[in-house]
Amino acid sequence: MIKKWWHDKVAYQIYPKSFYDSNGDGIGDIPGIISKLDYLQDLGVDIVWLSPCYRSPLADQGYDISDYYNIDPRFGTMEDMERLITEAKKRNMYILMDLVVNHCSDEHEWFRKACEDPDGKYGNFFYLRDKKDGELPTNWRSYFGGPVWEGLPGTDKQYLHVFHKKQPDLNWENPELREEVYKNINWWLDKGLGGFRIDAIINIKKALPFRNYAPDRDDGLCSIHAMLQEAKGIGEFLGEMRDRTFKKYDAFAVGEVFNEKPEEIPDFIGDNGYFSSMFDFNETIFGKSQKGWYDAQPVTPDDYKKCCFESQAKVGDIGFLSNIIENHDEPRGVSHYIPEGDCCEESKKMLAALNFMLRGLPFIYQGQELGMENVPFTSIEEVDDISSHDEYKVALEAGLSPEEALKAVSEFSRDNARTPMQWSDEANAGFTTGTPWLRVNPNYTSINAEEQMKDPKSVWNFYKKLISLRKNPAYKETVVYGALEPVWEERHNLMAYYRKGDKTLLVVGNYQREAQEIVLPGGHRKVLLNNYGDVAEDNGRIRLYGYQVLILEM
Ligand code: GLC
Ligand code: CA
Repeated sequence: MIKKWWHDKVAYQIYPKSFYDSNGDGIGDIPGIISKLDYLQDLGVDIVWLSPCYRSPLADQGYDISDYYNIDPRFGTMEDMERLITEAKKRNMYILMDLVVNHCSDEHEWFRKACEDPDGKYGNFFYLRDKKDGELPTNWRSYFGGPVWEGLPGTDKQYLHVFHKKQPDLNWENPELREEVYKNINWWLDKGLGGFRIDAIINIKKALPFRNYAPDRDDGLCSIHAMLQEAKGIGEFLGEMRDRTFKKYDAFAVGEVFNEKPEEIPDFIGDNGYFSSMFDFNETIFGKSQKGWYDAQPVTPDDYKKCCFESQAKVGDIGFLSNIIENHDEPRGVSHYIPEGDCCEESKKMLAALNFMLRGLPFIYQGQELGMENVPFTSIEEVDDISSHDEYKVALEAGLSPEEALKAVSEFSRDNARTPMQWSDEANAGFTTGTPWLRVNPNYTSINAEEQMKDPKSVWNFYKKLISLRKNPAYKETVVYGALEPVWEERHNLMAYYRKGDKTLLVVGNYQREAQEIVLPGGHRKVLLNNYGDVAEDNGRIRLYGYQVLILEM
């Protein structure tokens, strides 16, 4: 594996709308991010990924872009963005933007021009089909519910949208469209971006010609995955994009990739992969059901371990995964991966260490470093996210009561991760002086940055220690590049692995409330990190406390 500039870094995802509001309008913004760069630097972050802040109607919170060359006034100005890049550079930090090019907004000029002249140049930027009475071109269900087809305003045609109807899919088969995308990427890279996180990218290749697949719910529609599984040749688009853009700048590109086959991994993230890295979603998707969120199975500690190790084994030293426990599309990791009733400081730290020490690039999602938790929603009215509303409907249609449907949705709602960042115990968690666009999680009085930064035993300080260990010259080579070797894999509620480089480290977490014992015949040299004050050790036997995690130098 060729070494790259970003391998030893630590990345952090910002959801701009909810990070920090500088002007009291209740919406986080770029000046707000700039004012928190010192906070991120103090934590040890090097790479900052911003969820979209381009001009957008925010139908899907910015994942519906109406102008790829401008910043949405709610988030700030282009000067703010340029200042952010400059200020980040001063702190040796890199800014990544979100590249959302499977679709744009129906308010983008291309789409307006396509409506005016569907047979002209811009009609071919989208997938348009003639309207036929009572018949859809295909029976695919959009990710956010309902058919993927919608009438093209003012015409006798309809357009394809695999996400919301305000997110028309771009036609990647059209070289003119691809040129526009590359031009935009390079324009941003010329501004000094470190790279991009690449949104929903597996959707850009459609199986042609379009056809129906077997319906998988009573609505007579089928999941988009049925079509995607048959789509061949995405590599041609992705390879072209790499060569025309990222590669020339040695930029960092991390793909939102799902369902890749093991034999495709070298193509995606090998030395000359389409992307630098891709997110590991193996844990995220575990237990999810085709039927909807209401039918999902919980993830047990043993499932979590199995998923992590599967991904690690699949990738080996071909490349670098990007490891997460949460992002803006998922519930809070501590609420999702820690068994109900056991979410506490110790278990949060355990999960942090087990995830952070995996081989790959660690990504922290805003608030994860504080152990922010899911939101206790009391009504669907409190939820903003479009996919949550769809899943609520799906659950009701499946016969669940409103209470049960709300419970199912609460467990997975994307809004769990989108509530404002908890800066302090002041009003609105110190996020805004106005009214926040989404209600603050009421637990901000006990979970907030200000208090945790002062408390050496806080989750925040534990993250800080994990980050310093990754950067410590004595251990860096092992933490960054060392091979990962699972150990005691069959033991229930115990997750443990070696990282083997110029040193050997053992990461071991007791993933349960009850104590359990491990035996290390050769002993160990040093405790590098511990989420408890002591190690109950006797002659090579260690009795791990509930949710204790240790990083030991062997
Ligand atoms: C990705 C984004 C998600 C968005 C979707 C459509 O999955 O992470 O937030 O809704 O793409 O752009
Ligand atoms: Ca604002």
